Amino acid sequence: MAPIFKLEVGADRLATLTFDLPDKKVNVFGRAALAELERMLDELAARRDIGCLVLLSGKPGGFIAGADVDEIARVTDPVEAEAGSRIGHRLFGAWSELSFPTIAAIRGMTLGGGTEIALASTWRVASDRPDTRIGLPEVRLGIVPAWGGSTRLPRLIGIAAALDMILTGKTVSGRQALKLGLVDALLPDARFLDLVRDFARERTARAMATAATAAGTAAAGPPAGQAPPIRRSRKRPGGLRGALLEGNPIGRHIVFDQARKQTLEQTHGHYPAALRAIEVVRVGIEDGLRAGFDAEARAVSDLAPSPVTKNLVHVFRLTENAKRERGLPGGEPLPVRETAVLGAGTMGGGIAHLIAAETDLPVRMKDVRNEALAAGMSHAAGLFDRQVKRRRLDAPGMRRKMALLRPTLDWSGFRRVDLVIEAIVEKLDVKQAVFAELAAQVPEGAVLASNTSSLPIRDIRVKTPRPDRVVGMHFFNPVHRMPLVEVIVPEGADPSAVNTVFDFTRRLGKTPVLIKDSPGFLVNRLLTFYSMEAFWLLDEGCRIENIDRAMVDWGMPIGPLALTDEVGIDVAGKVAHIMAAAFADRVRLPSWLDRLSEGDRLGVKSGKGIYRYEGRERQEPDPAVYAALGLDPENPGHPGKSRNPRETSGGDPGLEAMADRMVLPMVNEAARCLDEQVVRSAGELDLAMIFGTGFPPFRGGLCRWADQQGLPQIIATLERLEGAVGNRFRPSEALRSTAAGGGFYARFGGNAPAT
Ligand code: NAI
Repeated sequence: MAPIFKLEVGADRLATLTFDLPDKKVNVFGRAALAELERMLDELAARRDIGCLVLLSGKPGGFIAGADVDEIARVTDPVEAEAGSRIGHRLFGAWSELSFPTIAAIRGMTLGGGTEIALASTWRVASDRPDTRIGLPEVRLGIVPAWGGSTRLPRLIGIAAALDMILTGKTVSGRQALKLGLVDALLPDARFLDLVRDFARERTARAMATAATAAGTAAAGPPAGQAPPIRRSRKRPGGLRGALLEGNPIGRHIVFDQARKQTLEQTHGHYPAALRAIEVVRVGIEDGLRAGFDAEARAVSDLAPSPVTKNLVHVFRLTENAKRERGLPGGEPLPVRETAVLGAGTMGGGIAHLIAAETDLPVRMKDVRNEALAAGMSHAAGLFDRQVKRRRLDAPGMRRKMALLRPTLDWSGFRRVDLVIEAIVEKLDVKQAVFAELAAQVPEGAVLASNTSSLPIRDIRVKTPRPDRVVGMHFFNPVHRMPLVEVIVPEGADPSAVNTVFDFTRRLGKTPVLIKDSPGFLVNRLLTFYSMEAFWLLDEGCRIENIDRAMVDWGMPIGPLALTDEVGIDVAGKVAHIMAAAFADRVRLPSWLDRLSEGDRLGVKSGKGIYRYEGRERQEPDPAVYAALGLDPENPGHPGKSRNPRETSGGDPGLEAMADRMVLPMVNEAARCLDEQVVRSAGELDLAMIFGTGFPPFRGGLCRWADQQGLPQIIATLERLEGAVGNRFRPSEALRSTAAGGGFYARFGGNAPAT
């Protein structure tokens, strides 16, 4: 087998070690790579002909992507997990103690173990290539950086900056890394290797000069010649704040305390790795390197075998699998060079902005109202402006992006477009008429997509001459933030039209999931059952804040009633009625739902909803809502007032029981969706729920969570609820056969990993 590490020593004592994992696109530290690195370290320790060693990647795409995630997924034994951490400490420790300086030459993606070997190097240099990103994403997988990263990073860049990287798992660009002091120089990519060598010579000479001065001999001085065009870090670890706050025990206490509080607030204690990482960093800073490494190893031994880690790794793999998905068989995606969006409202404006931001393609934005076009343009300008403020875009870049957006009231320019995305009012007759008109304006082969959230695509397309070219492309609100797009496939759709939308979704940086053209598609269908149950709990007299707290505590980013306010009570009501018509046997709505939106109580957009608002900021629940439901605002759960006293004997049934009531109907319906092939696999359903609703990743997804609870147990609870609350809880035949088939992943795993 070809070697994984290749050592080359030049006549000038400058050596390079190239990491190039055979037959792989990226370098990862799996067993084989670690074993070979260990042998290489023995050899390096014995070499006397090396003055400086540069670590390079042989992969054009990146430096080192970290440890092998499959190995993290496999670990079930805490002792094995700890041993895995100790290997990294031993090897990177040996690397840091070589008798000559080492340089990590970072180009492209550098994650986890890749960042950790860089941290163990004497110096780090990064290429200014736009895809250079450096990070420690371990916490996202439920563990902590445990090959020295949690201990070395804060020493290099300060505690607060290190915690920010470790706790969020975010990556930084080469430029940001330089600013943080994470790398010592940022090198222009065009001459990267030459400049790395120059850097190596200069630094080695300087180090030798310093050593010589210290020894009282004459300094040799850096080699003559022009200084290379590189930028060097002058940053003190942690900057001024670091010196003031982190340099003394009380200051450090404040920093750690703040981090703990913030983390608890954001994670509600569901992600133990984050809290553990704070502790590990603290030990490393207070008690020294060795103690820090021990703390890393102990943390990984506790965390790696835990269910949360397994679930997070599962979600990571679902995400990776989704990147490999190719859409429907039987048709190549068509090239998209020019695009158009119909409707410049909330969604249309967001979609047009996204196209300009992500693809650099021109996008026509058509509306029937000038004010809507102006609002759409100003929405896009606002988003670009935010990027400029965050230095992700410069002013000329923003002007260029804005120039891609071409607002129009007529059909000019539509002759050239390859893909149109419709996002006009949610009215079938209007959409039908607009699609008929649109079809006459675009080239015959153009793909027409609708962002409808509830209308069947097969009905929208009826008046078009090429109905096979009409596909659903269902974005989520806010467009720039939500990572999911449901690609709706109506019967008889041309696979190449579907794949054009699928492929384009990916160009927009979103995750496409293929969904059958059916009421509510997937995510809104499942959410209907969840929200409906929240309404019934409210109807029974449960307090608004408790209903929402039950789900936020469970891990949802927002409670179902607050979400209804975000969506708009009127819009949510409209969707609920469509679903009630489609699934009359199990969707029943409280009679007050339509009344609730009277008097401009529409939710966030009208400043008044189930909650009160100041601007867009949610305040406390509005007591008037109880009154509108005929409940006593002071004591909504009073048995005398409650219309359904069976589950409410004068109070809320408890947060966990409430969460069961809202989550289990989704599980019940998920089985039906899979059975009806609304979505192809349990893995895709789970990913869609995580990306479309923020379903808690630490639970691994709706189906995975249900499998872990045990479907027989879930069926038993549903049966109990059927008796106590109503027959809408009756376990579906699909759920029963899924249980009989061994669970969701056993029966519907499909292209998703069955971990
Ligand atoms: P909106 O009311 O904010 O915007 C609709 C825009 O379409 C308005 O600017 C209106 O002037 C324009 N319009 C109406 N008739 C038109 C025509 N014939 N040609 C061109 N423009 C026309 O509505 P929103 O919320 O953006 O929704 C648009 C579509 O997206 C709907 O189908 C909705 O179901 C769907 N959707 C909405 C989501 C949301 O959260 N708001 C989420 C996902 C999908």
